[in-house]
Amino acid sequence: MAVPTTTLNDGNEIPVLAFGTGSKFKGKDVTDVVEQALEAGFSHIDSAAIYANEQYVGAAIHESGLARQDIWITTKYDGGDPLDAVHTSLRKLGVRYLDLYLIHSPFLIGNGDIESLWDNMIKIRGAGLTRSIGVSNFTIGWLQRIVKTGKVVPAVNQIHLHPYNYASWKDVLEFCAKHDIVTEAYGCLAPITTYPDGPLDPVLAAIAHRIGGSPAQVIFKWAHAKGFVVVTTTARRTHLDDYLRVIHLRVSLPRSPFISVSADVVTPDRFFFVADLTPEEVATIDKAGAQGPPVPAQSTILSCPKQLHAYLRIALGIFVILFAIVLCRRLVSLALSCMH
Ligand SMILES: NC(=O)c1ccc[n+]([C@@H]2O[C@H](COP(=O)([O-])OP(=O)(O)OC[C@H]3O[C@@H](n4cnc5c(N)ncnc54)[C@H](OP(=O)(O)O)[C@@H]3O)[C@@H](O)[C@H]2O)c1
Repeated sequence: MAVPTTTLNDGNEIPVLAFGTGSKFKGKDVTDVVEQALEAGFSHIDSAAIYANEQYVGAAIHESGLARQDIWITTKYDGGDPLDAVHTSLRKLGVRYLDLYLIHSPFLIGNGDIESLWDNMIKIRGAGLTRSIGVSNFTIGWLQRIVKTGKVVPAVNQIHLHPYNYASWKDVLEFCAKHDIVTEAYGCLAPITTYPDGPLDPVLAAIAHRIGGSPAQVIFKWAHAKGFVVVTTTARRTHLDDYLRVIHLRVSLPRSPFISVSADVVTPDRFFFVADLTPEEVATIDKAGAQGPPVPAQSTILSCPKQLHAYLRIALGIFVILFAIVLCRRLVSLALSCMH
């Protein structure tokens, strides 16, 4: 079945679940994993020039035999001349156009001149080399500068977003909602992969139990409830199926007014993707996430004598230097007053 879509501010329909080829796959031959993802039912592939594997993504797309219009391809600008960069990506991917071209990071903007780079992104879209344009890892200041130009508003901002850092993105998320910029969330599973044993664990477990799913599925459902497009990845078929079941689970729920087996859903707004978590469950996840991830035991000073000793030595060193300076000044002024 097709992954449902949400509408971007330029009218294009983006599948709400993407298979990523970065993180653990950077520089790797991803032909098999991308083929596996497409075969399992993913239709949205998230790539980037910096991942140094666009040629393998292209090979997998070609091998899949899927029609170009049935796959959503995102890739990202990694610096240099924008037109050269997009042509290189197109050649490696073996396609004539992209669905979404993103500026990968504000750090890749030459001389910090986002206005010029954004003009080039608009030209790239105008030339038909991509259907949509957007940004990634953009904070509020950068987004404001683009919007201030009064030209095309980015369709997407792809950011590292999960329940533990959700509150810290508040200004960006509000700005994006105001300007109809869809947020794509990568690293959503950090509460499981990077920060286990935190305040979210019991909450995710309880909700997973209620819906008969896994904590990973609960996080994806939370993200969809917020209206985010989820960008995830895996090398494992079992996890792929797990991810896709988020969509299947929702589709199979007859009590939702927004469900359509064909996924051609008519909705009042993009937030129809309210998963079947209750608003109370979403709020509970927000609350537990706002407590922040667990502090690793080894990073607390008192629990690590070696670290404590190092800090004490530094403090003692600073104290000795300050004491010596004060003493020298006193001796000098004493000597001067004796001379007079
Ligand atoms: N724009 C950017 O700057 C940027 C930065 C980073 C990433 N991205 C994009 O986002 C994609 C996904 O990033 P991400 O890897 O951070 O996504 P993620 O969805 O947070 O994590 C995916 C990882 O979670 C693991 N996982 C899944 N279920 C698990 C479970 N139950 N227990 C333990 N581990 C589990 C998977 O491992 P297995 O393989 O073992 O299943 C996989 O490696 C990247 O590939 C890339 O396309 C973009």
